[in-house]
Amino acid sequence: MASIQDAFKQALASWASGVTVVSTKLDGNMYGLTASSFSSLSLEPPLVLVCLASTNRLPSMIKESQQFAVSILAHGQEEISNSFARPGREPTPDFDGYAGKLTTNDQPIIPDCAAYLACDVHDLIIQGDHCIAIGRVIEAAADDTQQPLIYYRRAYHTVGNS
Ligand SMILES: Cc1cc2nc3c(=O)[nH]c(=O)nc-3n(C[C@H](O)[C@H](O)[C@H](O)COP(=O)(O)O)c2cc1C
Repeated sequence: MASIQDAFKQALASWASGVTVVSTKLDGNMYGLTASSFSSLSLEPPLVLVCLASTNRLPSMIKESQQFAVSILAHGQEEISNSFARPGREPTPDFDGYAGKLTTNDQPIIPDCAAYLACDVHDLIIQGDHCIAIGRVIEAAADDTQQPLIYYRRAYHTVGNS
């Protein structure tokens, strides 16, 4: 019989989502993590959240830097998504080769992404094996010429190509 964890993963695979890279900069080094657990939380004040595995280094880096950015990936950025999902990566001064634009609070974002948000930490809440990073949005921009990257059933899709 399948465990509840297997059934949980199988059910959640049917949840179609966008794909983000959540990133921070600490002591000159930049680090990012592919995450689809991103959500808008509040408009007044403007808050977003993302759920980050506690075993990953990003939650503790964000706790120290008190800032992070969310890059919403565009269709065509599947390789970037896979690259920032590789296990065992270290923070680097060149953001794994993707250094480019920085947000107003000096956080790295993925070049040519569909949209990005720069956040100050509002709260970090541990639940189960994840940390819910809640960010207060201080800057946001979108490139409406880009189609967003979509992920479900363990594969990438784009809007309109089921
Ligand atoms: C499409 C996609 C979505 C993901 N979403 C999340 C997420 O929301 N939260 C998370 O902690 N990891 C998520 N991951 C997994 C992390 O990116 C991956 O486990 C991490 O980069 C591996 O690094 P580590 O083993 O050093 O922790 C996702 C991976 C992919 C490919």
